[in-house]
Amino acid sequence: MSEKSFVITPTEHPVSDADRARLLEHPGFGAVFSDHMATLKWTSDKGWHDGLVGPRRPFQIDPAAAVLHYGQEIFEGMKAYQTQNGGVVLFRPEANAKRFGRSAERLAMPVLPTELFIEAIEELVRLDHEWIPTSEGASLYLRPFLFATEAFLGVRPSREFTFCVLASPVGPYFSGGQKPITVWVSKDYIRAASGGTGAAKCGGNYAAGLLAQAQAYDHGCDQVVFLDAVERRWIEELGGMNVFFVTKDGKLMTPPLSGTILEGITRDSILKLAAEQGLTVQETPYSYEQWKLDAASGVLTEAFACGTAAVIVPIGVVRDAAGEFTIGNGAAGPVTETLYHRLVNIQRGVEADTHEWLHKI
Ligand code: PLP
Ligand code: COI
Repeated sequence: MSEKSFVITPTEHPVSDADRARLLEHPGFGAVFSDHMATLKWTSDKGWHDGLVGPRRPFQIDPAAAVLHYGQEIFEGMKAYQTQNGGVVLFRPEANAKRFGRSAERLAMPVLPTELFIEAIEELVRLDHEWIPTSEGASLYLRPFLFATEAFLGVRPSREFTFCVLASPVGPYFSGGQKPITVWVSKDYIRAASGGTGAAKCGGNYAAGLLAQAQAYDHGCDQVVFLDAVERRWIEELGGMNVFFVTKDGKLMTPPLSGTILEGITRDSILKLAAEQGLTVQETPYSYEQWKLDAASGVLTEAFACGTAAVIVPIGVVRDAAGEFTIGNGAAGPVTETLYHRLVNIQRGVEADTHEWLHKI
């Protein structure tokens, strides 16, 4: 490939300055999109080719495209932030690129080199920099994804793929912002079993979790909590977030990376920040029964969900078909708040980036 892997063709019909300003005021989550998108093709004979950053528009794909039948698709979620000095940064994009590669391997898809993954994102963010919201808690959410386009109904890995990156200005993931959420513990459905695709970020995992998430909404909850597939006892993760628990004696616990949960980049960052802060950090199995007992006895003082979209959000109430319990007094606790502010301050360039997590654009 040439020095630049993407041809840049700006749209002739960008959203007007006035409309963009209006859209950026209250973007919500995932409902507003920037003017452009990045695309790159892969075929078994040519490898990666035809990199383009051009107008955002619908795809034309064959009705027999493998993704439409067998769900061969993976994605990532990351954000571009405006820092306090006016710069633009990505948070740990190499980690997203590596996880994208692991997801690709698990789904029998070609692995996109890290440099190409980052170049696509950089070019798109440069072209659409006016879409990065500047208000507190807002950012430009980036959605890289790869899907199978070969028109063929036999069941085998596709020989053609399209990679694409979308950019979407976002505010907080939950409508209540940083207010504590209520979670629904699913007893009926599981997310992933050992040997399955739980550690991959593939569309199929989310499709399989939608019914449990819909039940959570039906019960007035914001997110679903999945238990392990074998004993239906151990807490795994939420529909779109990892989960942490804080005890009275300063212990921070999170379920281990057993192969059935997503290796969250926020999770990893929190483990590092918490250890620096003097908390005892444990990646350990934690049962739903124990969660209930510890919340009732006051041993457990806080719980929170974390992910790129959600950042860090306190869990206030835990509900299942039999009843519910409250964590602490139902409000955000001090450990959750401190970790939230430290993470956000690093992302915004307010606090020193001692781990070299920021990638300047
Ligand atoms: N778990 C699931 C199922 C997710 O969808 C996400 C979000 O990407 C996470 C965990 C958190 O991962 P990260 O912190 O890398 O965004
Ligand atoms: C993310 O945090 O990036 C995700 O993919 C999760 C989803 C809830 C949007």
